[in-house]
Amino acid sequence: MTGLPAWLGWMTRRRAREVSLRALRAGDAEALARIHAQSFRLGWDAAEFERLIANRLTRGLVATDGPGGAPVGFILLSGVTPEMEILSIAVDRRRRGSGIGLKLVQAAFGSLAAEGYRAVFLEVEDGNAPALRLYARTGFREIGRRPGYYRDSAGMPVAALTMRRDIA
Ligand SMILES: CC(C)(COP(=O)(O)OP(=O)(O)OC[C@H]1O[C@@H](n2cnc3c(N)ncnc32)[C@H](O)[C@@H]1OP(=O)(O)O)[C@@H](O)C(=O)NCCC(=O)NCCS
Repeated sequence: MTGLPAWLGWMTRRRAREVSLRALRAGDAEALARIHAQSFRLGWDAAEFERLIANRLTRGLVATDGPGGAPVGFILLSGVTPEMEILSIAVDRRRRGSGIGLKLVQAAFGSLAAEGYRAVFLEVEDGNAPALRLYARTGFREIGRRPGYYRDSAGMPVAALTMRRDIA
């Protein structure tokens, strides 16, 4: 088996580079609901995103195809100092594996220490390899496990892992 064709590797790197980040805004609800629906068995609809975006404790970043382009990923957080929580992160399924998730997490954490946050928490389904890899890469460690918290596509119980990252 040969590696990826050179042009495909080039396209992938180019795509990651051309992604821009901006703050979440009110008009994002529909686009975020679309990406969420591709990513989770229980998708949040646009009304749910509108409610979240309107909540003053919610903040988020949207990755777009270049400045002003269509959303290709997002991260939503909520918290009160000193603790922040990642509510959701998802990348358009056609664009996964090109560094967008990593870029979103790193950028979202950029100003947290200066704002007085000391820890970030999240919950993730056991066995979600891409997410676990992303969180390991960004300094999260498992601090708890809730057996049977989720159901997989066959209806079987799956644990939720609680993870924490301390903010320096
Ligand atoms: C999890 C998710 C946001 C990652 O976004 P992404 O843009 O694909 O991730 P990146 O390209 O930045 O990769 C981040 C890390 O995850 C790894 N990764 C990406 N896709 C992977 C896969 N399919 N299997 C294993 N690891 C994977 C990358 O190799 C990278 O780690 P490394 O730098 O150590 O190699 C994306 O897969 C997604 O939207 N999944 C569905 C929604 C979801 O599960 N969200 C998390 C719920 S808690």
